[in-house]
Amino acid sequence: MKLYIATHNAHKIREISQILADCEIISDDPQGVEENAATFEGNALIKVRAIAANHPGEWCMADDSGLCVDALEGEPGVRSARYAGDNALTKENNALLIRNMQGVVDRAARFVCAVALVDPAGKEHVVRGECEGRIASSPSGTEGFGYDPLFIPDGCEVSFAELPAEVKNSISHRARALSSVRELIVPQVNSGG
Ligand code: IMP
Repeated sequence: MKLYIATHNAHKIREISQILADCEIISDDPQGVEENAATFEGNALIKVRAIAANHPGEWCMADDSGLCVDALEGEPGVRSARYAGDNALTKENNALLIRNMQGVVDRAARFVCAVALVDPAGKEHVVRGECEGRIASSPSGTEGFGYDPLFIPDGCEVSFAELPAEVKNSISHRARALSSVRELIVPQVNSGG
């Protein structure tokens, strides 16, 4: 079945395509949309609503995700992509996080992924996945994207960026949210719809 995704982020598209391998993932960039909600769920809904009108009778989906650090009162949170400023580069966001975590003992953090869907009947659904871990003192690894070099998931001694993609994609916040998505869309996949 076809699944329209409201993103242009090639990293997200690759991960979603790997996790939902039995769906035909089609990217539709929600141009000019302001992600100004206070929650991941709110931003995911803003993005999916922006593309749903273009694809009546189809499944549409948007992911909004980010890193929440306990010692920073949940920051960078919904501002993860813009932590060091609008249009900030990944290396600038990561450098700011390292700076803000210097000397901090409690390094607990979690990645959060909210996924909003509009089904072929126009009904909205929202699911969430989380992955607990901790913030490393320095970056390591070259896989993945964003804050991956700084995030060590619980049960691992290495960062997301040091894990093979298939391992990250089996335990990540996105994998967990997409497993709930799968439960919603599985009747469609089975019927070939
Ligand atoms: P969004 O595109 O508004 O959802 O912003 C997501 C931002 O959160 C990204 O730009 C990354 O900085 C961060 N992020 C979300 N998911 C991940 C992940 O799986 N690994 C690393 N960083 C992530």
